[in-house]
Amino acid sequence: MSANSSNLKLFLSAEKIQAAVADLATRIEADYAKLTESGGDLIIVVTLKGALFFAADLMRKIERPVLIDFVRVSSYGSGTKSSGNVVMTKDVENPVRGNHILILDEIVDSGHTIKFLLEKFSQSEAASVKVCSLLNKPSRREAQVHVDYVGLDVEDKFLVGYGLDFNEKYRNLKAIYTLEG
Ligand code: IMP
Ligand code: MG
Repeated sequence: MSANSSNLKLFLSAEKIQAAVADLATRIEADYAKLTESGGDLIIVVTLKGALFFAADLMRKIERPVLIDFVRVSSYGSGTKSSGNVVMTKDVENPVRGNHILILDEIVDSGHTIKFLLEKFSQSEAASVKVCSLLNKPSRREAQVHVDYVGLDVEDKFLVGYGLDFNEKYRNLKAIYTLEG
């Protein structure tokens, strides 16, 4: 399997991804300089496994102090469609209370995952809870959620690469592709 596979069509180059990530990092740095003035740490909460690559690139473009934590959530549906049945199999380890939570996902699709995480963190006395996603598919939304930082809005296509998988494959690719056929 490689990016040369005939069923992969380039959707977003590595350069375009990095430009979108840099733009998000600039906005986040500026906003959290103000938000954390009255105290609390910024904790970036990475949704495993897909947001791992995005998080690693984004965090290295941010120079202010930032903590990292991980959650693992799955929503079981059929095929490429998720459902509202979200299950969390790994929770954060840092104390949330009084700190600023920024949830990082690589793509917001139906919105069920983010809705679940927003509800979870807003019950835990965080100083603030926001959402950042590299990609956003607004046409697929089922749960109404506000995404504070969006890298790029994309059309309704199934994407792989840069953390996005199909049956756990293709996450390691540097660019993002549509899966054809
Ligand atoms: P949601 O709960 O439907 O918003 O789904 C969010 C999760 O579904 C994302 O974080 C991805 O892990 C996965 N997902 C959504 N769209 C795609 C896609 O086009 N390719 C691969 N995974 C996707
Ligand atoms: Mg994900």
